[in-house]
Amino acid sequence: MKAVPFIPTPIKVVKAALELAKVGPRDVVYDLGSGDGRVVVLAAKLFGARAVGVEIDDALVILSKMKVKEEGLEEKVTILQKDFREVSLEDATVVYLYIYYDVIRDMLLDKLKELKPGARVVTLEIPVPGWMPVAKRGVQDEAGVVRTLYLYIKGLSDPESWKNEEADTSWKEEFRRRLWGR
Ligand SMILES: C[S@@+](CC[C@H](N)C(=O)[O-])C[C@H]1O[C@@H](n2cnc3c(N)ncnc32)[C@H](O)[C@@H]1O
Repeated sequence: MKAVPFIPTPIKVVKAALELAKVGPRDVVYDLGSGDGRVVVLAAKLFGARAVGVEIDDALVILSKMKVKEEGLEEKVTILQKDFREVSLEDATVVYLYIYYDVIRDMLLDKLKELKPGARVVTLEIPVPGWMPVAKRGVQDEAGVVRTLYLYIKGLSDPESWKNEEADTSWKEEFRRRLWGR
């Protein structure tokens, strides 16, 4: 599989992604392939969440650890130098992904099964193969380019949850409407 380069999410789009997932102080946000740490730093700084960045590239890990220190967020933000396949997602309530489609399909789909019901997954540009988004938003970045965010909820969006689908799914519609207004 081809290497995934570091392409940062524009800051406006990071904020929109965290807002779309309704991140708050009770959340634990994971960015799988966290680059320079911008997503996890902003999740903690602007939304009060705990956050974990997982990044394989050592220079990016050093850079993000420096950012975390500069912002005084060491209590809230952890940067792990690891392959994201090796990290447990059991305590994650929000996962952010900006990574190739085939990487999600071949390396992360199984991992996402570890998420608890109600956990949110937000992706930029790339949909999660086989999952059904509960929201899709266009957001302008700093250059005026419209970027697409997808939001998924474990237990609503993933095919595993459809296997156990009960006859009356109206509560899911109501849940989605109340939380995301659509
Ligand atoms: C497109 S960049 C996104 C960076 C950041 N999430 C953002 O949105 O600004 C993808 C990142 O994933 C990292 N990456 C690629 N494969 C990885 C792996 N197996 N484990 C951890 N990180 C990985 C790359 O080094 C790169 O920094």
